[in-house]
Amino acid sequence: MLNPASIAVQRPRESADALQAAAGESAFGRDIEAALSHTPRVISPKYFYDAQGSQLFDAICDLPEYYPTRTELGILADHAPEIASHMGPRAEIVEFGAGSLRKVRLLLDAMEQPARFMPIDISGEHLAQSALDLQRDFPGLDVQPVIADYTQRLLLPAPLAGAGQRVGFFPGSTIGNFTPSEALHFLQVAGQVLRGGALLLGADLVKDPAVLHAAYNDSQGVTAAFNRNLLARANRELGCDFDLDAFDHSAFYNAPLRRIEMHLVSRRRQEVSLGRQRFAFDEGEAWHTENSYKFTIDGLRELAERAGFRAGAVWTDENRLFSVHWLHAPR
Ligand code: AVI
Repeated sequence: MLNPASIAVQRPRESADALQAAAGESAFGRDIEAALSHTPRVISPKYFYDAQGSQLFDAICDLPEYYPTRTELGILADHAPEIASHMGPRAEIVEFGAGSLRKVRLLLDAMEQPARFMPIDISGEHLAQSALDLQRDFPGLDVQPVIADYTQRLLLPAPLAGAGQRVGFFPGSTIGNFTPSEALHFLQVAGQVLRGGALLLGADLVKDPAVLHAAYNDSQGVTAAFNRNLLARANRELGCDFDLDAFDHSAFYNAPLRRIEMHLVSRRRQEVSLGRQRFAFDEGEAWHTENSYKFTIDGLRELAERAGFRAGAVWTDENRLFSVHWLHAPR
């Protein structure tokens, strides 16, 4: 009997060539091809975030086991007046990534006459919608979205006449998804664009591994779906034929490296196609899809100082799950 799965991979020659060409043209296609071509297999977690992945991530943020979002929101809400006084009047906020507007709204509500909000994101569509929503609620605020990759050298509009200090905002512990050298590089880039101002940075803290394990292995399987979305996205955009049920979600705390690692583990020996190429996975072979570094307060402050910042106030929750840092940018 014909196996229906085998029909899906039998493409006419032109179509396979076209898919191969499309894969070669996009950064996602090139990085998937590079990841499949090397062992051990590794890919940047930035590819989780297409429209479906971003929705899954929003759902993660509301999970009972995923403490970082609500804990950071609690810290910001509890300390908003004090954070706003660090910002001073007519400050400009530069948000790295068009993240949850819930967080920046807490700051804007507490600030004295915020002058401008500049969210920076690589996805223009997402950015435009977030900017419109915010502008509606803060009509006096100059909302100026910037489409750019904030991990690269950045050019921002000049400060508004009469504006106060420029404050970067990088919440959510997204810094933990960078490698240590990427994190240092990001902080150096941020230091340049925030010269003379400050950075408000959210960083998840080292803690009981059981709490971490639960946060990345939720009982509803949302994090597993988020992880597998990498494969689903490769199927949608690159015409791959990953069988999502043939990969297990694996997330564990690597204590010596102080990071959660996420992997997709092949349940059996199998082959997948990308255009005309076929790639084999062994049974039990792992594809490393994300690191989420956890920090000590001192470790984060030392990292920031190596990038030229001067560490200032730190706010945490009563269980010391999460931290929010005020970092003075270089002059
Ligand atoms: C976006 N980032 C900080 C999340 C984290 O916790 O590392 C991404 C995530 N991965 C799995 N769950 C959430």
